[in-house]
Amino acid sequence: MIGNSQGRPWRLSLLGLLLLCCSVSCPAEEATPETLPPRTPEIWPQLTSRVQNDEALEQRVQALLAELTLEQKVGQMMQAEIQSVTPADVARYNLGSVLSAGGSYPGLKKDATVADWVALADEFYQASMNPRAGPAIPLLWGIDAVHGHNNVMGATIFPHNIGLGAMQNPDLIELIGRVTAREVAATGIKWVFAPTVAVARDERWGRTYESYSEDPTIVFNYAGRMVEGLQGAPETDRFLGPDRVIATAKHWVGDGGTINGKDQGDNWSTEQGLMIVHGQGYFSAIEAGSQTVMVSFNAWQGEKLHGHEYLIQEVLKNRMGFDGLVVSDWDGIAGDPGAGRPGVTGCTKVRCDQAVNAGIDIFMAPTDWKALHRNVVRGVKNGSIPLARIDDAVTRILRVKLRAGLFEDGAPSKQPLAGRQDLLGHPRHREIARQAVRESLVLLKNQTNLLPLAPDARVLVTGPGADNIAMQAGGWSVSWQGEGNSNSDFPGGSSILDGVRATLASSGGTLVSSVEEQPDVAIVVFGETPYAEFMGDRKDLDFTMDDDAGLQALRELKALNIPTVAVFITGRPLWVEPELAAADAFVVAWLPGSEGNGVADVLFRAANGTVQYDFTGRLTFSWPRNPDQFLLNRHDTDYDPLFPYGYGLSYQGDSGSVPVATPTTAEGESIQ
Ligand code: BGC
Repeated sequence: MIGNSQGRPWRLSLLGLLLLCCSVSCPAEEATPETLPPRTPEIWPQLTSRVQNDEALEQRVQALLAELTLEQKVGQMMQAEIQSVTPADVARYNLGSVLSAGGSYPGLKKDATVADWVALADEFYQASMNPRAGPAIPLLWGIDAVHGHNNVMGATIFPHNIGLGAMQNPDLIELIGRVTAREVAATGIKWVFAPTVAVARDERWGRTYESYSEDPTIVFNYAGRMVEGLQGAPETDRFLGPDRVIATAKHWVGDGGTINGKDQGDNWSTEQGLMIVHGQGYFSAIEAGSQTVMVSFNAWQGEKLHGHEYLIQEVLKNRMGFDGLVVSDWDGIAGDPGAGRPGVTGCTKVRCDQAVNAGIDIFMAPTDWKALHRNVVRGVKNGSIPLARIDDAVTRILRVKLRAGLFEDGAPSKQPLAGRQDLLGHPRHREIARQAVRESLVLLKNQTNLLPLAPDARVLVTGPGADNIAMQAGGWSVSWQGEGNSNSDFPGGSSILDGVRATLASSGGTLVSSVEEQPDVAIVVFGETPYAEFMGDRKDLDFTMDDDAGLQALRELKALNIPTVAVFITGRPLWVEPELAAADAFVVAWLPGSEGNGVADVLFRAANGTVQYDFTGRLTFSWPRNPDQFLLNRHDTDYDPLFPYGYGLSYQGDSGSVPVATPTTAEGESIQ
């Protein structure tokens, strides 16, 4: 159980949130380094992980540690990217781990098979088991499986977190974690950099779609369940078993609360605000036994997290009792100052004693790991890094490796699920993703009850997103930015058009390809094109200014008296009032992933005329009334959204658990 006997002070109450409204979103004017209040570690919860301390395991850790030289210990702390390291390097440096970044595949083959992934995993593993000197310590491979095993062609791609939030279904979250773990295990990989437990507060942030909600309660409720799905229940022998993988709660801490929603920017929340809003996901993730936490690129009150001894060592490890390992983000110690994203003051990619001393255990140093290795060793030798800190780091790394059974399991190819190409995009997995798509859809408008559509209708499907799985999948999909993909990069997946086509074919309807064929209704699919991280930061929330293809299509169809259903593909709420006014029905599909057929499931009645699936998705982000409503969050004192948190229509006429006012456009016209 988490918390102390006095209760759970970090749990949210409405009053608490109201009191905190200002403290979580007011920028630098409110607090400056000179006026910062004293730190208060005691406000953070003392957690108890469900993974119990194992004395025998700890003794093995210490015995192994005693066999390692300083250089070998530091080797365990380095994480290289697979394109910048060879198996010979692994053996020579006793490397502890490798990662493959977004869009990095074995042999740079985008269509690498499961067998290719496993073969490379075996090579690295064998090298780690045959070190040039010192004890054999199996290597860990980490990968961003953030919405399914998204780097591997043919995998099941789930909706991004923003869509999963709208489902408000923690049971399904856990199942998605299990399915993801199975597909990752098939490729011989044991560690995923997920879940992202960010609480995005300013939708200009390019990572908003990686966030379940602006409301920390949902993030708290989901994070632990996702960790349990990925890793298994700590009390059972399924924990980190052959069909499970190590999870990472990321990015510690405050990534979703930076000023102006700038990626890698500065969060000026009070400490109370940081804990109550941005800390929540970690509390349930750590309680569920998350074995790793990734440090965030952002700063808190002017100080970069990667050098933040107070937040990493004192709060996360000492106060919250996290006994797993802390991994840095990609060159997070150095940032990219030339591009306006600075790192820890005084640090470069290859030297940052401050980050070691702050409590980072593994350094994601993708290309420059050799020089960093040299400098960490030097730092210990010249006394600027205590050896005890290195020993703590390696203790944590070995603890996690032992808990994951790496020393007993043998080569990746020997694992029960390894090499199972059939698990990638398995029909059962796709069915779960399709359910997630159905449950994530949010209906914002349904004029004259246009939806649900008749199964025997004549339907036109148009717009840039109609037959575009790459757009549905968004960033972190086969490639890092999600760019350069076409439908053929998602074998086995379905576009929204595919789903409509199949539905009409089975229920006697007709798919038409132009207005000349006199459709009864048109479905217009449009929205954001893929992006990831800072590339997705925006200046405002005005979608129409960026891209009016959807609006034009809606208006042209209206002029022809053809009723329209707008399906909006998006990583965040955006100002789309012209589109809302032009469309007869408006559905937010978020970034649904590879199973676009889940959309048609909800839009159409079944062949026998009954409603097969209702809309159950509800907004877990408030929808803006104007393009400048950047800071728009539930419980704000001046809260004035177009659609409030919790909004969502359904065929039953129920708008969800939150009382809903009928939204109006700027002109006062009712939208519902
Ligand atoms: C992202 C992380 C990710 C890492 C490795 C970074 O740019 O911030 O979320 O895990 O890359 O791909």
